[in-house]
Amino acid sequence: MAVVAAAAPGTGSHVLNDAEFRFLSAFVTRHCGITMGEHKRQMLQGRLQRRLRALGLDGFGDYCELLRQDPDRELGEFASAVSTNVTAFFRESHHFDYLAAQLPKWLVQRPGGRIRIWSAGCSTGEEPYSLAMVLAEALEKHRGPADALILATDLSPAALADARDGVYSLQRIEGVGEERRRRWFQRGGGTQAGKFRVHPRLQELVRVRPLNLLEAWPMQGKFDAILCRNVVIYFDTPTKQRLFERFDAALQPHGKLFLGHSESVNGLSDRFALVGRTIYDKRSR
Ligand SMILES: C[S@@+](CC[C@H](N)C(=O)[O-])C[C@H]1O[C@@H](n2cnc3c(N)ncnc32)[C@H](O)[C@@H]1O
Repeated sequence: MAVVAAAAPGTGSHVLNDAEFRFLSAFVTRHCGITMGEHKRQMLQGRLQRRLRALGLDGFGDYCELLRQDPDRELGEFASAVSTNVTAFFRESHHFDYLAAQLPKWLVQRPGGRIRIWSAGCSTGEEPYSLAMVLAEALEKHRGPADALILATDLSPAALADARDGVYSLQRIEGVGEERRRRWFQRGGGTQAGKFRVHPRLQELVRVRPLNLLEAWPMQGKFDAILCRNVVIYFDTPTKQRLFERFDAALQPHGKLFLGHSESVNGLSDRFALVGRTIYDKRSR
């Protein structure tokens, strides 16, 4: 007998039936490239309860109907519920050391000192603001023209709101060294007591925008570096292959692609050469 979407007695929580799980799993693969096997079913059921409550829905059947009728409206929230937003300042710090060493050279080499860096899957902003600290420090030492920006994109509306705010708890800024904390964070007072706001200079350098990596990219210019770290880990093979092809097209000749520690282009793309720990150079053709 099929399990129907119903509230478990006394709990107010709903049960995700087979057909609904299949629909949601296919939906997230089609729209976000995220694969979700049967082992994720309990997790999905648990995480979506909050969403059902927020929307005032009666069960997963209604939720599936909402996705069917207006996929774009709910996609970001749905994707946030199924993926993780875990991130940290200076996560995989060797990437930031590499950039700190390269940026002074790039600023001199690029016409007009034009530098574009893309944090693709920026989550709550720790990654782009870490980049912004390194970039701001390079810009301070640079003599000559400069036009440097960081694009920070994600599909999760909640994560993007945090990234725009740029306000973090003491625990969240643990990965930032003492000197940078003093330099690049402002201690909050009143209702923001115990919180730290990123320096306006960092916000000036970062543009936060919603973007689903599987959809069209509106950006025109090419990037010197793309960080897409701990994002493709959820994607199926064809989605990863297509994404690496598009990253290749979006990079300057010899632009750099940074992936997360458990990610690789191996067997998926021959357009990149490894030049550091999960740092790839766009091969010139
Ligand atoms: C684990 S976080 C990684 C954050 C950061 N890059 C890091 O390494 O610390 C993964 C992020 O990828 C985003 N994401 C997942 N699928 C996406 C897609 N199709 N388009 C854009 N962002 C996506 C999620 O919303 C989430 O914020």
